[in-house]
Amino acid sequence: MDRDFTGAHKFSRFIARWPNKFLQRYHSVPTTVPKMDWTGCCKTMQDPQSRETFLSESDSEPRKRQGKRSRTLVAVLSVLLTLGILAAVAGILYWYFAGRTSEDARGSQEDAVRIYSGHLTLTDMQYRSALEDPSSKDFQTLSQKLEEVVNSSCQNIPNLSPYFVKSRVYDYSDGTHMKAYYFVKFRIPPEDKAVLSQFSEDALTQPLHENIVGMGRLRSLPVGITSVSSSLANPDLVITPEERVCYHNLRAKDIPTRFTSPGFGGAGYPNNVHCQWVLRADRGHVLYLEFLDFNTDDDCGNDFVMVHDSLSPAEDDVITKKCGKRPSSHHLSILSSGSVMLVTLLTDDKLRYGGFSATFKQLLKMGECGQTLTTLSGKFTTPYYPSFYPPNIDCQWTIQVPIHLKIRIKFDMFRMEEPGARQGNCTKDYMEIEGQRYCGDHSLISLQLNSHEVRILFHSDESHTDKGFMGVFSAFSPSDPCPNEFTCRSGMCVASDLRCDGWNDCGDLSDEMKCNCGADQLTCDNGLCKPKLWFCDRKNDCGDHSDEKECACAVNQWKCADGLCIANDKACDGHLDCADGSDEAVCTGDNAICTDFNFRCADGTCVHRANAECDGQTDCADGSDENSCVPQCGTQPYKQNRIVGGMSADVGEWPWQISLHFKVMGHTCGASVISAEWLVSASHCFLDGYNDASSWLAYGGFNFQGEPTAQVRKISLIVRHPRYNEDTFDYDVALLRLEQPFDLRPKLQPICLPDTSHTFPSGKSCWVTGWGAMYEGGSASVSLQKAEVKIINQTVCRDVTQGELTSRMLCSGYLAGAIDACQGDSGGPLSCQEKGKWFLAGIVSWGEGCARKNKPGVYSRVTKLREWIREQTGL
Ligand code: ARG
Repeated sequence: MDRDFTGAHKFSRFIARWPNKFLQRYHSVPTTVPKMDWTGCCKTMQDPQSRETFLSESDSEPRKRQGKRSRTLVAVLSVLLTLGILAAVAGILYWYFAGRTSEDARGSQEDAVRIYSGHLTLTDMQYRSALEDPSSKDFQTLSQKLEEVVNSSCQNIPNLSPYFVKSRVYDYSDGTHMKAYYFVKFRIPPEDKAVLSQFSEDALTQPLHENIVGMGRLRSLPVGITSVSSSLANPDLVITPEERVCYHNLRAKDIPTRFTSPGFGGAGYPNNVHCQWVLRADRGHVLYLEFLDFNTDDDCGNDFVMVHDSLSPAEDDVITKKCGKRPSSHHLSILSSGSVMLVTLLTDDKLRYGGFSATFKQLLKMGECGQTLTTLSGKFTTPYYPSFYPPNIDCQWTIQVPIHLKIRIKFDMFRMEEPGARQGNCTKDYMEIEGQRYCGDHSLISLQLNSHEVRILFHSDESHTDKGFMGVFSAFSPSDPCPNEFTCRSGMCVASDLRCDGWNDCGDLSDEMKCNCGADQLTCDNGLCKPKLWFCDRKNDCGDHSDEKECACAVNQWKCADGLCIANDKACDGHLDCADGSDEAVCTGDNAICTDFNFRCADGTCVHRANAECDGQTDCADGSDENSCVPQCGTQPYKQNRIVGGMSADVGEWPWQISLHFKVMGHTCGASVISAEWLVSASHCFLDGYNDASSWLAYGGFNFQGEPTAQVRKISLIVRHPRYNEDTFDYDVALLRLEQPFDLRPKLQPICLPDTSHTFPSGKSCWVTGWGAMYEGGSASVSLQKAEVKIINQTVCRDVTQGELTSRMLCSGYLAGAIDACQGDSGGPLSCQEKGKWFLAGIVSWGEGCARKNKPGVYSRVTKLREWIREQTGL
């Protein structure tokens, strides 16, 4: 996209260098809970009243959790034994079917099973904590009675009743209402497969409600039932009291109580566990849960932690499902809507990880949510921000400013991701302003309203919550909307010194219209002013091509790749005349010399073509120009189906970008992936005190700091360039070897290393990326930022850096300032594209301040460090 018209130039950045406390932001892991589909034999069908466990007779769980199931099986075998040989046969049958995929998935001949889970709201009974103990008389008496009611209602549901197996009431809680939690199980034989579609989310709730609540108070029942909820549940999560192996019933205090997953701080969590923590708060309170450490498998299909806003593990009540490793600087904190929460850890039989430590406490339930705001400016946030907002809540804010003013609102942070919810329709969690709904993830929402009063609604449904938002509002006067600032045509305000600086800050170019161009600027035909340096740089900076119009060299001149003209006879004369060597790189014939700008094949022959390596065309007889590069390097396999826009990088757009975290400080430096086990970064990131490899972690394949889907690796070796000079930043390069190679995936790919002969001509547009400071001494970016920067002529750069430039350095950016790398970007890539492939042209190294006029960013010049990289890594 052309720079002039995007309006998106300021490379946002942050002070990540040394402690980095920023907006915590997580990316919700896509969490489609697998629909239940395990099958079983049918012993209990004959005995629906049996109190035996749900899972014992149907453990033919088809997927990888057989280990857990088999343990469950062992736990209940004693019960089965008492039921005689018949049960043993059933067990054998179970084992026979255990490795099979479900009937749903493969169309096998097994029964399909559906489990619904939910709660009954009870009245007319004093809550007793004995109800939380399944071995108590209170629990057993009441559960048996309630089960009878649920069983008989299920037997009355016309379409479903033939498949009904049984129900279990397995727990109770107190809160605004007293609740009993239950499961109901149905089994559908293969010949009736067609009815499976009737087992929908709502199929049970309505009839159950009508049968139970509509029946009125039963004489046999010591309680009233005022409502029934139910939703399909993942059978992996359905556990009866008899099956509880790793189970904790915990009561919250006003101060935090800590709990950890088994093996935390030691060998890590065991394989095949199903652990549950039931958290309970007093009436009138909600629960606040915070994970301090969190380390599980990257793949939620293997191990995960799930938090429910209920004691029922129903899909409707999931607050969040998480896996992966979280940096300790980014805690995950979650709120419940009521007085209970269920935390579940499920692991498979593969790798073990550290697990989690968490604390929980109770907080008084928020009475009112939202308020009327009548100040001239202020803030409003989702409840408990920046913790996850609670499920099931509605808030309303009304902003009122004096009648002659209008309202402007900005959201710098807006996260309401919900699996299955589509941006655009916003039917689950959303914010609504003037009839327009917002949901999903936005890095910035900025609104100018044409009124002095506005209502903002926030709605969260019962499942899946996120960080929410912080809105900042201010009143403005329509007659002087931007006091002391420039008012864009759109009504937006930008700092006055951004006017006529060559940058489209307003987004509609209005800050660049009607300018008197300065001495260091050129005047475009359309009246815009642009830095002189952009003249003839082969980029349409004016937007009307006027800055690129009269750039051709005279007839007797040769045009260097950087746009400069030299006498025709100087090209291919065996001498380098163009600063970038382009006059000698493409010569054939007798005069053709092999310059530093020609690729030399492994057999010593010279390729007379510029930038011949890794371009998909074989030039060397031995193929060494193509096979010298890491396969697939410099490609963006994930990005191809995405839309790029704005300053935040798109997912998978810079798959070689790495965030290096130092100890507990979080992001500290950038780096680039050059192979599955090697990274390149800057030497100055690893000065004394920072040179212990075990103090660093490399995060890759992600955009948002704290995103749990990032791949994390330990560093086993840091190799700094032996000639790195701390005073001059010469040879500012370091190589990092990973303890375990990265899994190269579409979002994590190596960048191509340019050959020593590769030229990046001045004027060429490249991209710098990182999580660095947003402006000099400024605030952070949690999301990966990108900025387009141009390679600057070495001589010009030597001038503006007062001779501090060495040949191991290159400048990129703009003499006009405004776009640059900054603190925290160090070590990160300067990526340049060549024939569709991305090459590492530079490593973010230094600069005077950030984005200052005539002070472009200085990068380590990779072509000059290429040989050393090869020697150290073999790449
Ligand atoms: N040295 C800085 C760091 O450690 C990077 C500076 C880059 N500065 C610039 N203006 N381009 O993060």
